[in-house]
Order: sequence, then C-alpha cells, then structure tokens
Amino acid sequence: MEVTISGRRSLRGELRVPPDKSISHRAAILGAMAHGTTVARPFLRSGDCLSTLNCLRRLGVEVELAGDTLTVRGGGPEAWREPSEALDAGNSATTMRLLAGALAGRPFRSEITGDRSLLRRPMGRIARPLRLMGAEMETRGEGERPPLVIRGGKLRGIEYRMEVDSAQVKSALLLAGLQADGETRIVGGRSSRDHTERMLLLMGADLAFEGEDALVIRRSELDPAEIDVPGDLSSASFLLAAAALVPGSRLKLLGVGLNPTRAGFLSVLNSMGALVLESGYREACNEPRGDLEVGSASLSGVEVEGWRIPALIDEVPLLAVLGCRARGETVVRGAAELRVKESDRIAAVCAELRKMGASIEELPDGFVVHGPVILRGARVDSHGDHRMAMSLAVAGLCAEGETVISGWECVDISFPGFLETLRFLTGS
Ligand code: S3P
Repeated sequence: MEVTISGRRSLRGELRVPPDKSISHRAAILGAMAHGTTVARPFLRSGDCLSTLNCLRRLGVEVELAGDTLTVRGGGPEAWREPSEALDAGNSATTMRLLAGALAGRPFRSEITGDRSLLRRPMGRIARPLRLMGAEMETRGEGERPPLVIRGGKLRGIEYRMEVDSAQVKSALLLAGLQADGETRIVGGRSSRDHTERMLLLMGADLAFEGEDALVIRRSELDPAEIDVPGDLSSASFLLAAAALVPGSRLKLLGVGLNPTRAGFLSVLNSMGALVLESGYREACNEPRGDLEVGSASLSGVEVEGWRIPALIDEVPLLAVLGCRARGETVVRGAAELRVKESDRIAAVCAELRKMGASIEELPDGFVVHGPVILRGARVDSHGDHRMAMSLAVAGLCAEGETVISGWECVDISFPGFLETLRFLTGS
C-alpha cells in the first residue's frame, strides 16, 4: 500500500498517542504467568501485541480483548499447555524472545516462528543463556536464526553477563529465572528499558537490584495486577519530531510514558534546540508518565554516542531525519544493533533519505548527516519496517512537494491510525 504525504504542513493540537507497545506485551505475558485475573487498560491493539495474544491463546491461556481492555485469566505458568501448532510471533521479536524465556521453564515442546523479517533476527543471544540454564533451544534458521524449537523443563539459575544491552534478552532471562532453582544473576543490561523489572516488582516477584549493574531473580509466583498502560513514547516521538521540524507547529501529547530508560530522545531533541515541556508528571503501576508539549524550532546538529543508544534505540531513524534540517553535523555512533532490527535501519534510513536529497554518510554503527538541506518529496520505501515508514512520513511532512511511501501497511505493527492522526493534526 502506498501513501502520499504533502510537505510543509504544520501540526497543531492536543491528543493521546496509542498505548505503550512494550508494556502491553509484558502485561499480557506476565498476566499469563500470574495466578489470577490481570487487567491491562488501555492495551495496544496493534499487529505485534495481537501476535502475543494469539501465541498465549495457543498455549491454553484465557485471554480476552474487549475494546482496549485486556483481561488475562492466569493459572501460573504450570497451566500453560503444549501447543499443537507452531506459535506465530508475526513481526514481533519481543513476542518471540520473551515467550522463549517463559517457555524454557515449561516441560513440553514448543516452536515459535514469524514473518520474513523476524526469521532474519538473531536468536543466539537468548538461546545461549537459556541453554546454560538447562533448556534445549534449537534454532532452525542458519546462524542461530528462527524458527525456535524449545524443549523446556527444570531450569537452574546462572550468573550471566549480557552480550548486548538488550531489554528483550534481559526479559527472557528474567522470565526463565522466575521458574529456575536457585538464583539467576544478570550482569549488565541495566541501561536498556526496564519495563519487565518494574512490572515483575508490581506483581510481587522476588527481584533485587545489586550494585550498579546486576539484577537477581529467584523463583516466585506472580500476583495478578491492574495495569494502567501509559502512552507510547516511541510513537509520540514521530509526532514530536514532526512538530519540531515543520514551521508553525505546536503540539501537546497527553499521558505519555516517561520511563527514563526510554526517554533519551527527549533530551536529544532538547539539545538540538527543540524545547520539550513536561507537565502533569505522575506515576502509576511503577511507570512514570506526563504530558509533553513542543513547537517548531531552529535545530542544531548533535553527537549521540553509544552509551545513549539504549534509551532511544527505536528513535535513531528519526535522528537522521532531524539531522537533515539541523545546522551542522549530526553524528550517531555505537548503534550497530539497528542493523538487526525489523530492517537494517542504518542502511534503510541512509538510502531512503538520500532519495529526498539528504547528505548522509553510512557508518558501520551509525551515520553522519550534514545539514541543513532542503528535503524534496520523492518515492521512498518502508523496507517493511513500521518505524522506517513513520520516519519517512516525518521527512515528507517537512519536505517540499509530495512524498510517496510504499509498504505503508507495516505501520499497524505499532501505531494503527498514524495517518489519520497526521491528518487530524495537519487539518488535512
Ligand atoms: C523492546 C526492546 C528493544 C526495542 C524493541 C522493543 C522491548 O529491543 O528495540 O522495539 O519491548 O523489550 P532490544 O531489546 O533488542 O534492544
């Protein structure tokens, strides 16, 4: 499906962005591991989160989504049943990796597969530590790629130093550690998003933080919870970036998640010169949230080093778009992880923005953008990646003329209604 974005349309208004995708996945999975009824509201009704719900149903978990209210009747992981068919995680690595951790502790065989993009994602990073814990983890694709076949059972706690700073890997180990004998100590990985840790604590898990970089979890039963899901800061970021870029814009987004392990993009926007005002700060279900307001600004280039990447991992393509309109160089390094996301986001963003006139150099682990340039509408492609499609729409909004984006349908993976939201905000 193709979509045409008209350039130079300012964004004005106030709205709520869709619920957080990472928290929605976790509410469903942890709810299914708890004893009792968990309710999550509002739950993100998007492609990725629906994949998680379908996998849980295949495992015999009673899951009901009515409007935006998710109800999960959990009987503990013991109540999960051997699935008769492969579980389909669709496009969602979060579904595959978190469920793999949970299934490592179940005494049956399960298989998890996914779409073409997911079948290219690396799974050795979860298979290796889960094997050390005692699970049989078979990766059917070449180079430890999916489908995954898991023969789980009795697990033992291990001490494990994280190979990559990944929340999905950390979460898989936490969900296995919850079912293991002894303690599981995870060293490193504390700067990646910590939604799993926060929700586990809310549900009564035996989890402790040790020093600056270790997490220790012991076998425990989870209590059910009522989870109030904040707006997704990653979804909000597309709108914030568009408002910062298009002259005459002013936008207020309500109830957005402000977890510090996710909020790196806000500080980069500020340092580029777009002042983001935060108000109405509050905490619910261990997750901070508040309202964000931003207007168009004249931007300067910025240098983003590797240590900042985990807190803005999903917003890196947007930094390339912002860099095109910023004075000076915008440099991103230490972001090689982007090459193994839903697409190779470094290669994809460089190739597509060049079609619009960007001056951008690809690095092995990032890029250098020379700005400012006047972006021109062009025919560009999403590479089947939701965050690429929306980043290109933001580029299109601040470009001259019309931008035609192919492969638009993937936007439903995380932000159903994105186009309608843009139409509402641009009054078109
Ligand atoms: C996610 C973690 C991140 C992020 C992804 C969602 C999660 O991936 O890029 O969109 O919900 O845990 P990594 O853990 O692989 O960095």
